[in-house]
Amino acid sequence: MSDIDHAFAAPLARGLYLDAFARPVFLSPTEAGTAPVDALVVELAPGSDAAAEGASAQAFARALSAWREKRASALPGCVLVRSGDSSAAYWPGLSLDEARRRAARRDSAPMLLPPRGEAAAGSARARGGVVDGRIALVTGGAQGFGEEIVRGLASSGALVLVADLNIAGAERLCAALNAEAGRTAALPVAVDVSDEASVAAMFALAAKEAGGIDLVVSNAGVLKASSVLDQELGSFKFVTDVNYVGFFLMSKYAGLLLRRQSRTAPRWATDIVQINSKSGLQGSNKNGSYAGSKFGGLGLVQSYALELVEWRVKVNAICPGNFFDGPLWSDPEKGLFVQYLRSGKVPGAATVADVKAAYEAKVPMGRGCEGPDVMRAIYYLVEQEYETGQALPVTGGQVMLN
Ligand SMILES: NC(=O)c1ccc[n+]([C@@H]2O[C@H](COP(=O)([O-])OP(=O)(O)OC[C@H]3O[C@@H](n4cnc5c(N)ncnc54)[C@H](O)[C@@H]3O)[C@@H](O)[C@H]2O)c1
Repeated sequence: MSDIDHAFAAPLARGLYLDAFARPVFLSPTEAGTAPVDALVVELAPGSDAAAEGASAQAFARALSAWREKRASALPGCVLVRSGDSSAAYWPGLSLDEARRRAARRDSAPMLLPPRGEAAAGSARARGGVVDGRIALVTGGAQGFGEEIVRGLASSGALVLVADLNIAGAERLCAALNAEAGRTAALPVAVDVSDEASVAAMFALAAKEAGGIDLVVSNAGVLKASSVLDQELGSFKFVTDVNYVGFFLMSKYAGLLLRRQSRTAPRWATDIVQINSKSGLQGSNKNGSYAGSKFGGLGLVQSYALELVEWRVKVNAICPGNFFDGPLWSDPEKGLFVQYLRSGKVPGAATVADVKAAYEAKVPMGRGCEGPDVMRAIYYLVEQEYETGQALPVTGGQVMLN
């Protein structure tokens, strides 16, 4: 018996555990010896090229599904791999020490799968501790990305002021979240971010109701797609007022409040996060007012970051890709998918699903941006103490920084 090529076989075996546990697992190798009780036995395909790799992966998957027919909620405590006259045994553990202990004792007792919630080490919520107990304000929080952000922050223990032009929507969402959480997790606030008096009053209310603020998410935004040759000045100004002027007003009144708070808490870092767009990093055809407002937004982010650093306010932007499952795209009557289907923008598309598939195909990671993707970025920005003035893309690889 000669040695198995661990570089080939071990990653294939480890993948079975990663896939099932959704968390890192360690494997420790030994000689195969006599096949241990309950071991998963896999015969590798000959060779070591990509085709052999694919065929071996299938052999692993087949063996595992047969093994799990009898033990659905467990994974093998040992994987025995054979290839020609070579063989090896792999022993899994949730730490290297545990894997080595199993190997030393040849302990092949099946590993139990953790309950579903615990398998989510990769979930956005796992990082949510950074906002636990913080006071957050999210504009445009009644629906779309804003609602996702409100839900994410509230479920991570923050108090969230849900600020929206649509006050009825904000109230409904807050009532549902408070009932779910069994605590005051969210408070509705009416605001028009393009109106100075309204924004000033909102921050005054936040100070009165909660004492101050730790995190401001400037998310409210609008889009009026139009050719530069056709767009009415009023439509251009509407987009600019909400997306660009709105961020100025938000930063002005958030900044005034945060400066006051910082005077007596000079070591307490706070955050202004602008929800920008991939269209803030790359031009958008027949959508110039939107892309221009978003590019401009990054100029404000950088400038305010330089100024407000004195008060330990970090100012950063998140640039998400398209949120295909949100109302902007998926609303059955006025969503962009229906509009693009009707206008024939995607050649050959016969259904909304065809249009969606065509847009998903433009994303290297093959899907739209979702709430948890944005939440991970928010948690990162809040946690990071040594970064400000940045634009963080969350685009599945569709737009990359230069
Ligand atoms: N949907 C996407 O695909 C996408 C992609 C990248 C970035 N974004 C950005 O994410 C943010 C949210 O977009 P969305 O698609 O979830 O939007 P949406 O249209 O689904 O929701 C926007 C919310 O903002 C509120 N709002 C609009 N104007 C307001 C104002 N003047 N004052 C206060 N509230 C106002 C609306 O009532 C609504 O609740 C925007 O800044 C948008 O540019 C969206």
